[in-house]
Amino acid sequence: MAKKITKAIIPAAGLGTRMLPIARAVPKEMLPIVDRPAVSYLVEEAVNAGCEDILIITNRDKDAIEDYFDYSVEYEKKLRDSGKNDKADEMRRIADMANVYFLRQKETRGLGHAVARARSFVGDDPFYVLYGDDIIFSETPVCTQLLEAYEKYGKPAVGVKEVSDELIVKYCSLKTEHLDKNMYGVTDMIEKPPIEKKFSNFSILGRVLLTPEIFDVLDMTPPGAGGEIQLTDAMRVLAQKSGFVAVDFEGERFDMGAKLGFLMANVKMGVKHPETGREFAEFLKKFAKTL
Ligand code: UTP
Repeated sequence: MAKKITKAIIPAAGLGTRMLPIARAVPKEMLPIVDRPAVSYLVEEAVNAGCEDILIITNRDKDAIEDYFDYSVEYEKKLRDSGKNDKADEMRRIADMANVYFLRQKETRGLGHAVARARSFVGDDPFYVLYGDDIIFSETPVCTQLLEAYEKYGKPAVGVKEVSDELIVKYCSLKTEHLDKNMYGVTDMIEKPPIEKKFSNFSILGRVLLTPEIFDVLDMTPPGAGGEIQLTDAMRVLAQKSGFVAVDFEGERFDMGAKLGFLMANVKMGVKHPETGREFAEFLKKFAKTL
């Protein structure tokens, strides 16, 4: 049985051009899902999967992320003075959820380049990467689902779903063979393939479990699609050498880096939120009739 994985990286240094103009002023990872920023859901997911140390990769325009995980002394005082201790406790809980560390990716050179910054944080053990704009609502954290695959097959694991042809050319495509239930062996992958080069419609959506071997490969990975150092290109080298496992995960994924994903995640959580759920659902039902 593999050791518990206690470290996670959240790359959140991308420019977020698909969310312009708002991304100019608000990091896309700080866009709200009802009343909490996307990155808060990611940290919570990592904690629920057993992580204690979480490194968020940011850039010079993203200080708001760091502030969010700090204590809110003034807010807490005001809340406690007016008897709202539960709200104050919740603020404290967010700040104390895990040891959250921050590191700046000084140049925006791609997801692979961002992950490569985390070598000394990671050390010698396997770790998770949660892409900063992929929110997944699931019964079991996707990271835990990946750990099951890692324990069973002893190989790094990626969370996948089948996506449309329209999306596969924007994401990555995996060469897979069925292993068991929702698990597949992966022997090759390609980032942003032209449609005639896709291996399958399975694409990695936002969660991976990697071993530290990836860092030597990343250091030698040249810029790929879009002129960026792609994590997929480095994973491809290891997949061709010794294989990966893909897990067709249980859970619903929303791309917070895209306007549609942002809107849909808010609707999904808006109807579940204890303060908004009932009235928002009534509003939606009436509104849907006018469409
Ligand atoms: P994306 O490609 O979805 O993010 O990267 P982006 O580059 O911000 O998006 P657009 O196309 O401009 O809208 C996936 C994840 O990798 C992070 C992003 O923050 C996102 O969470 N990333 C990307 C980095 O941390 N550094 C980079 O150099 C690029």
